[in-house]
Parts: sequence; structure tokens; C-alpha cells
Amino acid sequence: MSSHCLSNAAFRFLARVAYPLSISKQWSSLFGSCSLQFLVAILSEPDVYRFNFILDRAAFTISRMRPSRFPVFLLGLIIGLIIVPLSVYCYFRFGFAPVTTGAAAMPFEKTFAKMGLHARMDKEYPRTAPIPGNDENYTAGAHLYREHCAFCHGAAGQPATSVAKGMYPEPPQLLDPNHMVTDDPAGETYWKVSNGIRLTGMPSFHESLSPTQMWQVSLTLANADKLPPTVNAILHQPLPKDQPAAGSAVGSSGR
Ligand code: HEC
Repeated sequence: MSSHCLSNAAFRFLARVAYPLSISKQWSSLFGSCSLQFLVAILSEPDVYRFNFILDRAAFTISRMRPSRFPVFLLGLIIGLIIVPLSVYCYFRFGFAPVTTGAAAMPFEKTFAKMGLHARMDKEYPRTAPIPGNDENYTAGAHLYREHCAFCHGAAGQPATSVAKGMYPEPPQLLDPNHMVTDDPAGETYWKVSNGIRLTGMPSFHESLSPTQMWQVSLTLANADKLPPTVNAILHQPLPKDQPAAGSAVGSSGR
């Protein structure tokens, strides 16, 4: 939060003061347009306005430039190209990158993660389910959910487990009406269950569940807001307290 405000303030300062100054001193136009602006863009949250601003300014600078300024422009470009990777390196090398689950997201982390996930998933997720959404499949899906998913994604109406609270990113509580995936096609959930989501803790299940089982749990989640009462009853059962893994249900009941 505070680093976000800081980067906003830094951006405003550069946009309003430093950049116009660098324009008026033509020799630094390259430095101004390439290095500083890119640096600030990278250090701050993504924002369409910001990108447009940078592109506009860059185009404006180039259009106003006298031919004799081009070598300076090129120099600035080269400095900019060195500064960006160097600052990314320093960000990691000197311990500024968030590495704990409690730390805030890295700049652009969510944007790029979402962009990459959706670009890939939208190409690949199956558009139609090979099995129908009926009581039998929802019941099977509910049991599978409790066994394989609930210790991260929660039981209906129950508080999040200690595992769920401590993860980054936090697993959405998929039976909480605010986090349900009922707007997503079941095929999207199937794709996530089958492939997992890298670097998030969301496992891939294609080696432990059959395609039918993955469809059953996906259909159950896609219809989580309109399941029959018998299925809801299964999903509402409290979880064994902070049970780390479903497999231990058999062995851990005695202790
Ligand atoms: C070890 C913890 C863990 C387990 C077990 C787990 N998940 Fe996840 N899952 C996550 C995390 C963390 C995310 C968030 C990923 C992200 O932010 O991109 C996630 C994301 C998802 C999403 C995307 C939600 C959304 O809002 O887009 C779906 C759907 C999902 N999981 C379904 C399942 C199903 C079904 C199972 C069981 C078969 C399961 N998960 C098991 C941790 C887990």
C-alpha cells in the first residue's frame, strides 16, 4: 500500500517536474524518456494511463528532435536498456523482492500471472463436458472436493484452514458465495484442476484423479450456487480440524 503510494508520488513528480525539465534541456531527452520513465513504470503498479503517457511523451520527444540530437537519443536508449535489466537484477540481488508469503505482490506480478494463465487456458480449456451435471455426479464431485480440495479451498460455511490462511496467493474459498467459480465455464475449472497453476500452490491432479473425477468436481464447483440439498449437506460438513492432507483422514482419526 505505502510502496504503491510512493511509486505514484514518484511517478507524478517525474511526469510533472522532471520530465518537462528534461524536455527543455534537450540533451537529456533520451535519458528522460527512456530510462527514468521505464524505471518508474516498472517500479509502479501497471496503469493504462501511465503507459499511454510514456508512449505519448516518447513519440512527442522524437517528433520534436533535431537530427543532431539523434546520437544523444541513441545514447539514452542504450543507457535505458542497461538500466532496466540492472535494476531488476538489483531488486532481487539486494533483497527487495518479496519472498515470504506475507509480502505484497511484486510490481506487475498479478497482471502478468493472470495474462499468461488466461492466454494459455483460453486456447486449451475444453468447451463441453463429457458427463452431465446431475445429482449423481455432483455427489461424487462433493466427496472428491472434500477429499482433495477442501483443506485449501474450504468447506461450505466453515472458516479457512491454517494452510489456506498461510498461502500466497491465498486459495479462494470456492464454496463462499463471494469466491465461487460459478461464472467460469466448468471446462476452465477442469483445465485448472488437470494442469494446476504454477507457483501458486494449486496442484495438478491429472496423475491422481481420472478425467471423469476431475469433471465431477469441476461441474460441482461450476454449479455450487444451485446444488441439491443432499450435496450441500456433504459440502457443509466441518473438516477434521486443520487436517493437512485428505490421505491422512484414515490414519489420523485415532490421532
Ligand atoms: C494445496 C492447496 C490447494 C489444493 C489442495 C487445491 N487447490 Fe485449487 N488453488 C489453490 C490456490 C493457491 C489457488 C489460487 C491460484 C491463483 O491465485 O492463481 C487455487 C486456485 C483454484 C481455482 C481457480 C479459482 C479462481 O477463482 O479462478 C480452482 C477452480 C481450483 N483451485 C480448484 C481446485 C480443485 C477442484 C481442487 C481439488 C481437486 C483444488 N483446487 C485443490 C490451492 C489449492
